[in-house]
Amino acid sequence: MRTQEGHAERVAAVRERFGRGGYESRTRRLAEIDARLASTGTTLESATADQLGRRRPVAVLEIGFGWGPALIELAWRFRAEPVTFAGINLERKKPVKRSEDLTAVAEALDLVPAERIGELRPPDVHFYDATTLHFADESLDLVYSAVTLRFIADKVRVVEEVARALRPGGRALLDVGERGWEYPRGPATDPMMLTEHPSYLVLHHRLEVVPLGDWFAFAGGERFTICVPSGPRCVIDVTKHAPGRLDAGLRLDPERTIPMRKFPMPPGRRHPSNSVVRSAYELAPERMGAFAAR
Ligand SMILES: C[S@@+](CC[C@H](N)C(=O)[O-])C[C@H]1O[C@@H](n2cnc3c(N)ncnc32)[C@H](O)[C@@H]1O
Repeated sequence: MRTQEGHAERVAAVRERFGRGGYESRTRRLAEIDARLASTGTTLESATADQLGRRRPVAVLEIGFGWGPALIELAWRFRAEPVTFAGINLERKKPVKRSEDLTAVAEALDLVPAERIGELRPPDVHFYDATTLHFADESLDLVYSAVTLRFIADKVRVVEEVARALRPGGRALLDVGERGWEYPRGPATDPMMLTEHPSYLVLHHRLEVVPLGDWFAFAGGERFTICVPSGPRCVIDVTKHAPGRLDAGLRLDPERTIPMRKFPMPPGRRHPSNSVVRSAYELAPERMGAFAAR
């Protein structure tokens, strides 16, 4: 296979940009993303292989792919298999504005041997807000995301969209936040902040906070298994069993959805980057009876 005209120039441009530094938060490798998702007990390679064991072809999506190293590494590992890879970023900007640019990133960041770069099928790239996914119902087998949901105010809408687009048997691994996220059930410790835990996602019912794992396990119903495993990072792990949508039974609480910079961090903890949002939701009152009786 031949590489596109201008490939060498694109590789040089990516190398030059990367060499300037400051792009660590957009160029995490597969191993780093796997480490962030580790509480789910799988790696992205295993999760992709599991899907291939169920059906062929398999469609994989990364939400918030940055420069795309993790997607590229997966696309390279599964180059001989019927797996398609795609990514969504909010903004179309250098160095990845189109799919071919990932071939240049692959070579510039040494993700694929230069002499074999023509064998890489670059993932598709899309640029829009992932709170509305432009994917048909039941069209994806594996969806993952790292260091991205934290920037989105309506995180649960993304989870519902991902759940809609998953095929039965499909799985989603969505990283939401950092250590200290696990808050205990009970009365809010503050009417605005709800909990002292620096969680980027908090659920409450009339100022009684409810742990994520408890609510999502219930809200998944028969169609979905939704786990939020205990661990250093908050990751939502969704498996779909039957066609249909997820109604998470959560209403965004705009008053308590705030930039994390306004949150009083625990001693010794720095604020995360400016654009990280603490999202608060109220539990749907009509689901409370069934939740209590579960
Ligand atoms: C900090 S980067 C992380 C990139 C990559 N996952 C990594 O860890 O290297 C966040 C990414 O999320 C994407 N993003 C932020 N908000 C988004 C949204 N609402 N919809 C889709 N992508 C979004 C940005 O375009 C960016 O690529």
